[in-house]
Amino acid sequence: MAAESPAPEQLDAAQASYERCRHSEAFLADFYEAFLGSDPAIRPLFAHTDFDRQRRLLQHALGLLFSFARRPNPNLLERIATRHGPAEMNIPAEQYPLFMDALLVAVRKHDPEASPALAEAWRAALAPGIRYMERYGR
Ligand code: HEM
Repeated sequence: MAAESPAPEQLDAAQASYERCRHSEAFLADFYEAFLGSDPAIRPLFAHTDFDRQRRLLQHALGLLFSFARRPNPNLLERIATRHGPAEMNIPAEQYPLFMDALLVAVRKHDPEASPALAEAWRAALAPGIRYMERYGR
């Protein structure tokens, strides 16, 4: 199924897009601005967050989501999934689509090659990892 394992071309396209975006300091800042503004429940969760640290951790995590898409080894995401899951922060599954949408807001802003097809490639590429996170422990 396409949603279970993204087509290799979609993975390559999304990862190339990420390469074009990730070197911009503003890319992750714009992601967080869009994400925190996307639901009133989200901003308070980041009230005490050190965003310099948070952006570095997210950059690492995006790399893990891409690795997971190529080879779904649960060890890759387990620590981050535990932190977000029912035993710790208990992030509701409904908030994960907002994460993906906010990422695409930042991609549209920073990737000159952004397009609807590329957005679909990003969704397909990150779907397995995001699905793992939202289901973890539930
Ligand atoms: C697949 C999607 C997501 C990824 C890859 C991701 C990644 C991360 C990472 C790497 C951290 C840092 C963990 C650490 O401190 O060791 C983090 C923290 C956090 N995430 Fe996520 N996250 C995702 C989705 C979400 C969603 C949907 C929410 C909903 C509000 C959320 C809220 C938070 C909060 C509140 C923190 C803690 C910030 C702090 O320490 O001040 N995350 N996330």
